[in-house]
Amino acid sequence: EHSPTELRSIVPTELLERRSGCPFDPAPGLAERRGRGAVQPLELANGARSFLVTGFDEARQVLGDQRFSNDRVRYKDATQLQAHEVAELAAAAERGEPVRPAEVERTDGMFIFMDPPEHTRIRRLLQGQFTVRRMRALESRLSEIAVEHIEAMLAAGPGADLVRAYALPLPSLMICELLGVDYADRDTFQDNTGVALSSDSTAEERARAGGELYAFIAKLVADKRAHPSDDLLSGLVHDADPPLTDAQLIDIALVLLGAGHETTANMLALGTYALLQNPDQLAALRADPSLIDDAVEELLRYLSIIQLGVSRIATETVTVGDVEIPAGATVVVATPEANRDARRLSTPDSLDVRRDRAPHLAFGHGVHQCIGQQLARAEMKVGFTELLTRIPDLRLAVPAGEIPLRNDMLIFGVHALPVTWG
Ligand code: HEM
Repeated sequence: EHSPTELRSIVPTELLERRSGCPFDPAPGLAERRGRGAVQPLELANGARSFLVTGFDEARQVLGDQRFSNDRVRYKDATQLQAHEVAELAAAAERGEPVRPAEVERTDGMFIFMDPPEHTRIRRLLQGQFTVRRMRALESRLSEIAVEHIEAMLAAGPGADLVRAYALPLPSLMICELLGVDYADRDTFQDNTGVALSSDSTAEERARAGGELYAFIAKLVADKRAHPSDDLLSGLVHDADPPLTDAQLIDIALVLLGAGHETTANMLALGTYALLQNPDQLAALRADPSLIDDAVEELLRYLSIIQLGVSRIATETVTVGDVEIPAGATVVVATPEANRDARRLSTPDSLDVRRDRAPHLAFGHGVHQCIGQQLARAEMKVGFTELLTRIPDLRLAVPAGEIPLRNDMLIFGVHALPVTWG
């Protein structure tokens, strides 16, 4: 099964490794490329033709243009290409030929890696389940869950790892609410998700936890077919006409879990870290809590945690900015750079919760734009607000240099955030 995180293995590490001195700035290698243009060639280990997009407008153009595919089953991205295929693609591009999609009969529900119109059907079905009523219900549960976890931290403290005690459980429990996971099953669900997604686990541990998670979700889908309830998964089971297959439903649930868990958790933990390291910004937010919505947008922009995880494949030759991208090339959007484009923003490198709202690409753009963004925003708004008001003297428990950074991951953040109070 292809995962976009594999790009990591062939992208030069200097584009990914942020400096421990200022972990919130893009990796030095990425920042250094800013001067080389909004669209620039990217050398990959296997020699495949690739491009890095660092400009905001250019990134939006790529993500909004259907000639760029996200379908890794029909088109091969740079990570999947063998040496002879690299040469064949280059020769075909010289002749001006588009890339021919592989013929596949698709049975999966990995809509994140589909193009319209296949993508559109599942996306619409899912969008229809993110109703205002359901979001409201989720938001009220969210406050309860946040407060419960803060109280547990306070009772066991002073001192906690904010990642384990708060940032991970919050999004995980929200996905449980969304999918309708029974309370009795939540510990097992969270344990397996934790192991499956953690870089601390071995490959075998991850495979075992992943297998258990798959079996768990398969059973969940079967339960929802037999006993529908008020959750999103039940809605998908019963509202789709023609119905979705079990395989599709399982994949959709796994996509939601994969996309909605680590992302939000890292925004919560890294966001808290960034606020603690910017005391003037934290003070401004504490002085005027109505700034929280702006602060969330600014943190999304400033931290851009999806480092090089958004990429596309050119199905024909396309000109972006003033660069011709040949058919077959993989285009990697450098979200951290695009979100700091000095052509659109003054002081792009500082965290400023009072700045005029700047449009950003932290949730992507175009047909794949994050479907969970409303939920993610609510999780951050409630998550930061409850934390900062209930623990007013929250601070780091170790020197900043000792905080373990997720430099090895496409979703940036911290592995742990030791905090204390009192
Ligand atoms: C897509 C970011 C939270 C579900 C995306 C994309 C980005 C993103 C950049 C586009 C990827 C691409 O175009 O290749 C984030 C961030 C989050 C977050 C930064 C947290 C702060 C969530 C949550 C959920 C979710 C909470 C679900 C409950 C999805 C799904 C997609 C997606 C299903 C794929 C949509 C599609 O392909 O049509 N997200 N996301 N995300 N996100 Fe999120």
